[in-house]
Amino acid sequence: MITVTMRLARRVQPLGCVLALRFLVLVLWDVPAAWALDNGLATTPTMGWLHWERFMCNTDCEEEPDSCISEKLFMQMADLMDSEGWKEVGYEYLCIDDCWMAPQRDSKGRLQADPTRFPSGIHYLANYVHSKGLKLGIYADVGKKTCAGYPGSFGYYDIDAKLFADWGVDLLKFDGCYCDSVEQLANGYKHMSLALNKTGRSIVYSCEWPLYMWPFRKPNYTEIRQYCNHWRNTGDVYDSWQSVKSILNWVSFNQKTIVTVAGPGGWNDPDMLVIGNFGLSWDQQITQMALWAIMAAPLLMSNDLRHISTQAKALLQNKDVIAINQDPLGKQGYLLRKEDNIEVWERPLSNLAWAVAMVNMQEIGGPRSFTINIASLGQGVACNPACHITELLPVKTKLGFYEWTSCLKTRINPSGTVLLRLESQTT
Ligand SMILES: *[C@@H]1O[C@H](CO)[C@@H](O)[C@H](O)[C@H]1NC(C)=O
Ligand SMILES: *[C@@H]1O[C@H](CO)[C@@H](O)[C@H](O)[C@H]1NC(C)=O
Repeated sequence: MITVTMRLARRVQPLGCVLALRFLVLVLWDVPAAWALDNGLATTPTMGWLHWERFMCNTDCEEEPDSCISEKLFMQMADLMDSEGWKEVGYEYLCIDDCWMAPQRDSKGRLQADPTRFPSGIHYLANYVHSKGLKLGIYADVGKKTCAGYPGSFGYYDIDAKLFADWGVDLLKFDGCYCDSVEQLANGYKHMSLALNKTGRSIVYSCEWPLYMWPFRKPNYTEIRQYCNHWRNTGDVYDSWQSVKSILNWVSFNQKTIVTVAGPGGWNDPDMLVIGNFGLSWDQQITQMALWAIMAAPLLMSNDLRHISTQAKALLQNKDVIAINQDPLGKQGYLLRKEDNIEVWERPLSNLAWAVAMVNMQEIGGPRSFTINIASLGQGVACNPACHITELLPVKTKLGFYEWTSCLKTRINPSGTVLLRLESQTT
């Protein structure tokens, strides 16, 4: 939390403030994003709910009727997304992950839902979800099997795309397990993209192409963006700070490769929000929400909307933070600098505004003071000659008017984040 605000005139800069200017970094790799997949979708990052991290491949409906992968689970989540304010703030796609299928295709080679867990079928579920004003996502795999061993789409891309469209599906998460080669992987992802287009139905296409490509060669993100609406770069998120931290580290380490490729129609996907579960402290949940907004990440929650604290719900439904995530300029943010275990991330927003996140990565001790030179933010222009700053997280606070030469002093909890919004004052 911000505890002290300093508004210093040009003449009375303290030494620390002047010294901090040497960290002024201009980001020179800021080139426009290439052409996106032309399906008119994901003009801002996809928002919704995805079952994997919280419910995984639980198929035992006898022992665990309330948490097995079944139509009942999705209908309950649809009801809550509609009635508990989730839809209203933007969470629209209710997404099925692996383990929805029967173990075999039907006699005509079509995928089928497990008949005991989805007795009404996916078409019925899609209609139900649509009746709540929501959209339905489904899962399949580019290879011979899904990661959990259910039938893969290899050799069936056109048949599966048509089936999903006929059912009324609105998003496809296409996994990359059980492929024989990187050529097969790339061709499969491209083929499915074209097959979805041919159905004539608007279906968000969520890929894991680069994740499976990286072990062999550096993915061509320009190409991936032409075929996918978002793409996973990193392994599955777990319900732990270690996992969230390693994703952030991967993203900042590779930011020169991945940041500029993101934009309306195509986004880097750092995987699900695990807020509202068991593994993250309150400060770590704030960090995930703030940084997923800075990264222009799809916001796909994986939690149990039937059992979620009011605090976690308020964080996930924070309209100011969602507005940063969904900012229409559509530019992904980046790590500006790391200094003494404090990371400063920033993201350009529409109307010359900026979002700034300061993360305390030191996991020992208490809250740490951090002073930042206003001139070092937003490529030197965010607050030139001045700006209004609002703290959005952890607590919404109007911090007021700051001149370009002034400093801002904050206190950040261990593994926590202070998220700011800077509105430029040009006159
Ligand atoms: C299919 O692609 C064409 C051009 O590439 C695009 O104009 C059209 O809107 C796409 N259709 C769907 C359903 O995505
Ligand atoms: C990446 O793909 C794009 C679009 O298909 C192509 O124009 C470009 O040459 C590729 N780049 C590399 C390094 O292969």
